[in-house]
Amino acid sequence: MASEKRLYIKTYGCQMNVYDSERMADLLRPLGYVAADAPEGADLVVLNTCHIREKATEKVYSELGQLKRLKAERARAGATMTIVVAGCVAQAEGAEIMARQPAVDLVVGPQVYHKLPELIARAHRSSGERLATDFEANAKFDALPAERLSGLSAFLTVQEGCDKFCSFCVVPYTRGAEYSRPPQAIVAEAERLAATGAREVTLLGQNVNAYAGGLAPLIRRLARIPGLDRIRYTTSHPSDMDDDLVAAHGEIEALMPYLHLPAQAGSDRVLKAMNRGYSAGDYLRLVERIRTARPDIALSGDFIVGFPGETAADFEATLALVREANYASAFSFKYSRRPGTPGAAMPQVAEAEKDERLQRLQALLAEQQGAFNGACVGRTLGVLFEKPGRHPGQLVGRSPYLQAVHAAAPGAALGAILPVVVAAAQTNSLSGVLVGAPVPEPA
Ligand code: 5AD
Ligand code: SF4
Repeated sequence: MASEKRLYIKTYGCQMNVYDSERMADLLRPLGYVAADAPEGADLVVLNTCHIREKATEKVYSELGQLKRLKAERARAGATMTIVVAGCVAQAEGAEIMARQPAVDLVVGPQVYHKLPELIARAHRSSGERLATDFEANAKFDALPAERLSGLSAFLTVQEGCDKFCSFCVVPYTRGAEYSRPPQAIVAEAERLAATGAREVTLLGQNVNAYAGGLAPLIRRLARIPGLDRIRYTTSHPSDMDDDLVAAHGEIEALMPYLHLPAQAGSDRVLKAMNRGYSAGDYLRLVERIRTARPDIALSGDFIVGFPGETAADFEATLALVREANYASAFSFKYSRRPGTPGAAMPQVAEAEKDERLQRLQALLAEQQGAFNGACVGRTLGVLFEKPGRHPGQLVGRSPYLQAVHAAAPGAALGAILPVVVAAAQTNSLSGVLVGAPVPEPA
């Protein structure tokens, strides 16, 4: 066994990065790296970065400035700190990172992080490539170790990349072309997760519902794995929502009644300029079909305000779509100009205008979220208890609708799905009372 070394991974951005960070830790564990929760005193620091909006990118450079100081301090104490930049900024701006911040030892893109052990060893010998951003891709999944440390709720990447080229988005450039993992590999990974304690699995992909062979058949197969009681998936493109997947929401008990289905905008003109491939009417008809299959579904989504050329009337159309679709929760962002994407060359909307629109949209979305949560008061919901709450004697878990639920519960309830009567609703969470005591697991 190698001597113990401390590994600090900081994850930015989406859940796919969370999955990738976990897998990097899995790769490095056999080399003696144990997880640390701060960069101070770490032998190896990995920043797993996000490139989706300009702000996310800026954060990486400011974090690197701080790491440089820590690295220098450690050097004065006779120790070393290896700094790795991974993720989508690494992919998009690898050479620039190396030039701007010499403290960085290695830059590794999202498709080649399985080579980390070798790359780190080479970096330590000061020989070999320091920039690894090939797209040979997809070899990655085969090269990752089978062993995973699983929590009660686990992420599982089933699909990566995107061929949609929405005109605002960097993902097709940073994550590459659409790729679906073979079902056998996914089923095997899900079985291992279930065997090590996962009760819920969230299937991940940049366009998870574009999964080759159909996402619904895969979900049906995973639903047969003993112990996997809850299945979720994210994120979906409206154009890839096939009839089978819509039907699955009404048929598969383990498939949770929550759907993240980004609309991005409500004006047909803007949707066209975004290259989204559907109209507002198409989106709303799709939502109606999903609600017919699963009436109580919690609808979620993403919106961008201030896309280039968006007029006041276009923005009103977004508000109208939101009123019509009625969201349980949704994310909204100001358009961020990303060099190299078609949107970057279009006439931009003034910042003050974007601010004002974002505020109005977020107020409407908060109102809808409050209404959705409020309508849960008095209902009994199954809650998967995942961790201790802020107050002693309290646990926090998730409802089927992905709401955080707080309840007084004994420690033995951790990992159980138990009925909770919802007593109160806040904007971002629910609180309630456990119905009956948890039944202890047979020894
Ligand atoms: N500016 C603002 N938001 C963006 N998103 C993607 N690209 C941009 C951009 N350039 C948002 C979209 C997407 C979410 C993950 O991030 O809403 O669904
Ligand atoms: Fe980006 Fe559009 Fe692909 Fe989603 S579908 S990852 S927004 S290009």
